[in-house]
Amino acid sequence: MRAWRKFISAGGLKPIMLSLVDVSAGYSSLHALFGVSLEVAAGETVGVIGPNGAGKTTLMRVISGLVAAFAGAITLDGRSIVGVPAHRIVEHGIAHVPENRRLFPRLTVEDNLRIGAFIPSARHHFAEQLAWVYQLFPQLRERRHQPAGTLSGGEQQMCAIGRCRGPGCC
Ligand SMILES: Nc1ncnc2c1ncn2[C@@H]1O[C@H](COP(=O)(O)OP(=O)(O)OP(=O)(O)O)[C@@H](O)[C@H]1O
Ligand SMILES: [Mg+2]
Repeated sequence: MRAWRKFISAGGLKPIMLSLVDVSAGYSSLHALFGVSLEVAAGETVGVIGPNGAGKTTLMRVISGLVAAFAGAITLDGRSIVGVPAHRIVEHGIAHVPENRRLFPRLTVEDNLRIGAFIPSARHHFAEQLAWVYQLFPQLRERRHQPAGTLSGGEQQMCAIGRCRGPGCC
């Protein structure tokens, strides 16, 4: 992925929440991102579209701290998150929903959701977050005692999204 830029702005008045400037990253054997820049304003939804292997997942991994950037600046609410470990980044409200869900199939739906509130600051909000997730996805409430591996693919995706309701997301 090379120098990708966002063409549609939220209107320019909202504060920038997430900013990437000239970010390069990849893996030991492969350079995948070449000078990627983008901004996400508060309340804005941004989609990244590209062909298979373009680097979309790598970009998400860099933002959530799962892959280290080779170069470039990444700021969240004006503070650099370069070099901050993933378990600290999640405390600031960035959560990664993996494309292949990665649920614990033998644990119940509710226990999978509980795992999303593992960090101490999230535990205090778990009941509130759970109510929000069940309101958004009523199927999950109905199946809360069911092993997650017995859900349909779409229901498992709901569970993976619900698990990412972190402390900074409410
Ligand atoms: N763990 C890894 N180790 C080495 N190379 C990797 C690794 N993960 C991805 N890559 C390579 O990095 C490049 C970007 O992959 P990435 O998964 O970010 O693409 P993508 O845009 O998400 O693709 P898709 O649309 O298929 O999901 C590809 O060339 C891929 O082979
Ligand atoms: Mg991908």
